[in-house]
Amino acid sequence: MKLCVIGTGYVGLVGAAIFSDWGNDVVGVDIDTEKIDRIKKGEMPIYEPGLSEIVLRNISQNRLTFTTSIADGIKDAEIVFICVGTPQSDTGAADLSAVWEVAKDIGKNMNGYKVIVTKSTVPVGTNEKVKMIIRENLPGPQIEFDVASNPEFLREGSSVEDMAAPDRTVVGSDSEKAHAVMRRLYEHLNTPIVECDLRSAEMIKYASNGFLAAKISFINEIAQICERAGADVTVVARGMGLDKRVGSAFLNAGIGYGGSCFPKDVAALYKTSTDQDYDFKLLRSVMEVNVAQRENFMNKVLRHFGKNLAGRTFAILGLAFKGNTDDIRDSVSIEIVKKLRGLGAKLRVYDPEAMYNAKQALGAVNVEYCLDKYETMQGADALFVLTEWKEFATVELDKVKTLLKSPVIFDGRNLLDRAKVEEMGFTYFAVGKRTNGMVKIDTRNLYQTVLLNTNGSTGQH
Ligand code: UGA
Repeated sequence: MKLCVIGTGYVGLVGAAIFSDWGNDVVGVDIDTEKIDRIKKGEMPIYEPGLSEIVLRNISQNRLTFTTSIADGIKDAEIVFICVGTPQSDTGAADLSAVWEVAKDIGKNMNGYKVIVTKSTVPVGTNEKVKMIIRENLPGPQIEFDVASNPEFLREGSSVEDMAAPDRTVVGSDSEKAHAVMRRLYEHLNTPIVECDLRSAEMIKYASNGFLAAKISFINEIAQICERAGADVTVVARGMGLDKRVGSAFLNAGIGYGGSCFPKDVAALYKTSTDQDYDFKLLRSVMEVNVAQRENFMNKVLRHFGKNLAGRTFAILGLAFKGNTDDIRDSVSIEIVKKLRGLGAKLRVYDPEAMYNAKQALGAVNVEYCLDKYETMQGADALFVLTEWKEFATVELDKVKTLLKSPVIFDGRNLLDRAKVEEMGFTYFAVGKRTNGMVKIDTRNLYQTVLLNTNGSTGQH
């Protein structure tokens, strides 16, 4: 099939790569000339395992080309995918200005029947407006088209495999002709295709992200109780997850969810609920718990070191919002680094892929960028594990002990083996378990939340 993919971010570039790998002719479009030049040369603008090989292979077989012109991109396409960003606006709702711009350009350049498919995450009702904008901008009234919603469920870091072998494909449209076109693209996958109306497809995306975020906040609250009651949240999650109805995924307690999707999509879904005169109480709590989770983590640090961190140096492992990505958007790790710095600490930081992005976000003041995980630890007062990179789980503890000034570890992702860490004499803090560090510190009022405002000063509530 002949396809056009507009937007070459995580969704668009991975989508274009996999569609072409399936044997389709794909044109990728982006307004960013520099980005398009880089991709053409085989330089990926994002870190995504396996992506560059697939892009290069399909460029060399002439199935995948790139342009900055929407007119050129859509000329021969049967399906046009909209994959542009929908960041969070000031109101919490998704900012759809890029979607409207692209819809206008598509409309102006239509030259025959096409299915216009939105892959960007957009609130319920958006595709109907996309249809209206395209219709208003058509060069002639006789040109036919349909719209469809085909949300993506890609996880950054695993998006190539998620795109190539999804659990399910969701296609919403009010046109049987459009459904038939989309079926031709996806039916070879042999995975369920949920065919539905536009609004239900739009809701499926938000409901899925909202539910996964709720699972994380649920286990994070269980972690709070485990810490107080002396249970171990990792064991509890394993025991729960083996029940197929519960499922083991997204039950890792930690410092809370971040990234470019969950925080904004949960907020946008909540906004949709209030727009519909409904207060989505559960989702409101999901967001509150997520913020409380990082405060609880910071609380442990402050209880151990006191509220003035001047003169302290901390080793930070992990800056990306999760493992296997260079993305630091809404990264809880970056937030924690900023809070520690705000309280006077110096940070020695390392991430396998996110160093460049972190430098842009954190600058140079009181942050030293290290070449590997061990370099961060030289002379540090404590080690912080903040992102779930596999290579942090296998850190050599005897080496860590010789490098740190004092053997203290704050593990925000429960990555390390508690028994080994404690056996080696570290003072260990994890999430959702009463480790030796938790016992050592003054537990009176331990759980009183310490609010850290943006300039890093503390206040109790
Ligand atoms: C998420 C969804 O998983 C994808 O299905 C969806 O397509 C994507 O958003 C999107 O809307 O585009 P992603 O943001 O890449 O994908 O990351 P996740 O793997 O879902 O992780 C999100 C956050 O939750 C990370 O900060 C991660 O560290 C945290 N997390 C995840 C936990 O704290 N515990 C868990 O058990 C799982």
